[in-house]
Amino acid sequence: MTNIAVFASGTGSNAVNIVKSFNGGSRIRVALCLTDKEDAPVVQKMKDMCIETQYFPRSVWRENPDVILETLRSHDISLIALAGFLCFVDDRIVTAYEGRILNIHPSLLPAYGGKGMHGKKVHQAVIEAGEPKSGATVHVVTDTIDMGPIVMQKEVPVLPGDTAESLEARVHEAEYELYPNAIAKVVKSIGKNAEVSGEEAQDAVNAEPPAVPRSVDDAWAEALGVSNNVPPVPQSAPQPAPQYSQQYSQQPQPGGYQQFGYQPWPPTGSPAPAGARQSALQTAEPMPPTWLVWSIVITILCCFIPGLVAIIYSSKVSSKYFAGDIEGAKRSSRNAEIWIIISFVLGVVSNTLYIPLSIAGLF
Ligand code: GRF
Repeated sequence: MTNIAVFASGTGSNAVNIVKSFNGGSRIRVALCLTDKEDAPVVQKMKDMCIETQYFPRSVWRENPDVILETLRSHDISLIALAGFLCFVDDRIVTAYEGRILNIHPSLLPAYGGKGMHGKKVHQAVIEAGEPKSGATVHVVTDTIDMGPIVMQKEVPVLPGDTAESLEARVHEAEYELYPNAIAKVVKSIGKNAEVSGEEAQDAVNAEPPAVPRSVDDAWAEALGVSNNVPPVPQSAPQPAPQYSQQYSQQPQPGGYQQFGYQPWPPTGSPAPAGARQSALQTAEPMPPTWLVWSIVITILCCFIPGLVAIIYSSKVSSKYFAGDIEGAKRSSRNAEIWIIISFVLGVVSNTLYIPLSIAGLF
């Protein structure tokens, strides 16, 4: 599991999208959110998703970045994703995480980037310049604002009559698809706990982007050459707060990992790629009961052959579910149930007959 941290100061829709994209999976998780704005909406949103969130005043970000670094290290953070983070990231943090700090910017960099270019100002400038297209860029953070190597970009059209608000909404949608893919790409490239050299970071940047958006777990499964059939894991408990920070600690809510609402990919609103496999990891549908224990019990105690059939159907429930065949899994679950009942009835009937017959001395 690779731990990532999100730095955010605002609404937090990208931060929420990143959590939803990764935290139901088994490879990458947002383990920490850091903010420079105590009352930013992102704080409550992270709290609602049980993501440990810590506030550090700007004085700490500016004058004492070692405290931030210590917090990141104590959470075993391998990569940082800036998502609407409006505070300066000190050079010491950039150096310590060289090639492993990403930022998302709401334009096709290098156009409409740099100091003062953020939020609606970017979209207003794009519209005023009469650009036919805009988009979003994920880039590696360096010491020059918005100028680090580009990891991925996604274009959107600028439509006639667009306002800064309508364009911003379209770019945001593009960001929700772009950022998780870019994070997965860089994490895959650098590997957990790897000492990342500038060269490796550059490799990540130069690598071909995936042709279609895929789930992060699918991307990992493909990279590792294994099948994507690992169930989601629950979020681990929050860590203790370090000095200087106000920690928003949360207890996990009832409902386990499902509270994180592991989302279909692409996120709601984006069309699924044609022919995309609907993995069980990408559906909110819970796995139907396998009845495996009952099948075994019934096989041993009642009627062997029907019990064996029940076991076969039981084993098919999980394999079909994880292959994305939810309807097939439900059918197998129902069949297992039926064969358990058949086995039980036959067991009862044969035992009921056997006892009087044996008493009568026929067996
Ligand atoms: C995004 O548009 C991102 O490109 C920029 O800040 C905005 C953050 O939005 N860096 P949100 O807080 O994630 O909704």
